Amino acid sequence: MKILVIGGGGREHAIIKAIKQNKDVSEIFALPGNGGMAEDATLVNIGAKETDKIVDFAVKTGIDYAIVAPDDPLVLGTVDKLSAAGVPCFGPNKKAAIIEGSKAFSKDLMQKYGIPTAKYRVFSDETAALNYISGEKFPIVIKADGLALGKGVIIAETEEQAKAAVRSIMRDKVFGESGAKIVVEEFLTGPEVSVLSFTDGKTIVPMASSMDHKRALDGDKGLNTGGMGTIAPNPFYTPEIAERSMKEIFIPTITAMNKEGRTFKGCLYFGLMITEDGPKVIEYNCRFGDPETQVVLPLLKTDLLTVMQATTYGTLDKIKVEFEDACACCVIMASDGYPAAYKKGYEITVDKSVNGDVYFAGVKKTDGKLYTDGGRVLGVVAKDITLKGAIDKAYKKAEKISFENAFYRKDIGAKALKAEAK
Ligand code: AMP
Ligand code: GLY
Repeated sequence: MKILVIGGGGREHAIIKAIKQNKDVSEIFALPGNGGMAEDATLVNIGAKETDKIVDFAVKTGIDYAIVAPDDPLVLGTVDKLSAAGVPCFGPNKKAAIIEGSKAFSKDLMQKYGIPTAKYRVFSDETAALNYISGEKFPIVIKADGLALGKGVIIAETEEQAKAAVRSIMRDKVFGESGAKIVVEEFLTGPEVSVLSFTDGKTIVPMASSMDHKRALDGDKGLNTGGMGTIAPNPFYTPEIAERSMKEIFIPTITAMNKEGRTFKGCLYFGLMITEDGPKVIEYNCRFGDPETQVVLPLLKTDLLTVMQATTYGTLDKIKVEFEDACACCVIMASDGYPAAYKKGYEITVDKSVNGDVYFAGVKKTDGKLYTDGGRVLGVVAKDITLKGAIDKAYKKAEKISFENAFYRKDIGAKALKAEAK
């Protein structure tokens, strides 16, 4: 089987490494992929948003199954186009991907179907939004409606900050057309949990839970990033919370999407906050998380490609999806300065002993050598039967990787360890 994986980050590298284990797979193409993946996949020099070129490539190459991993191509309808051209795909179609593509849509969906989430209002008029904010409590959360590289959320501590956020999103369009509409929502508190799930629209199978670390610096300080590290499973996601989430959130969400004529197939990601009133949805993503995937897939015992195909063909109820009873930790090594300005082009050296545990992201390959080429450069992953063991091993492995200007958080998993100790 020839497999096409669309995307080019650490998440895609983790997917590729898992898919490679299937004996029926003869070749994997990564589009565009990155230089660090070149040993695991054939790189295709086409952008993830160049839909027509992607379809053309897939058809000409005789791709048997395509995996569309990032949000942009999913929201653009790449799955619809590939499917129409006869290439079966993993991922939701355009109608279903709106669950991530529009926060106004997802909030309205949750309200209509009674799925627990923060109270909110949607605005497409700046003055109306500003007037509403005057009467609200702070902090308050302002979100651009559309995709904004994970940066479209502003937590405003004061009325002035909230109003400035509204103006920058709606008037100055700092997130472009993504900010034509905004969601203003209640600020919730509690630990956050990421739950990725496989679904074929009828059956939903949650994967091992995980915890992202979004801020750039130790102690959750600094700017928001795409994610600086993850651990799995997440100790805040107790069996009781899991049961409530299934009943109150997961099943109601796929049922709601079916009722709306937007059946979701693929990986549905629930960003949850465990509040005093129970689990609430902070966000939906229509795809695998990055870097959640890098800790969740190494724990998956069942063959990934088999599960993915079952979501496409509606046979998820026929297979048993199993996860190891173990823990995993991923430490992201980034370029100093990220998520603001940073330098790139530094040679990366990886000790052979850890080669198999590295998922490359912002990396390019020139004359057989790897160089930094992005903010988040790579993730290094370790597993152990205990969370502490997984964390310690991941940090030991990180010491065996070096490049100039490298930086990483030293406290990935620290909050989870504290929670375990309680
Ligand atoms: P998102 O891009 O939707 O994942 O939001 C980014 C981060 O903002 C989340 O991971 C939360 O930490 C925070 N956040 C989003 N919505 C809320 C909310 N209603 N209350 C508190 N924090 C929030
Ligand atoms: N790690 C968060 C995300 O993938 O959206």
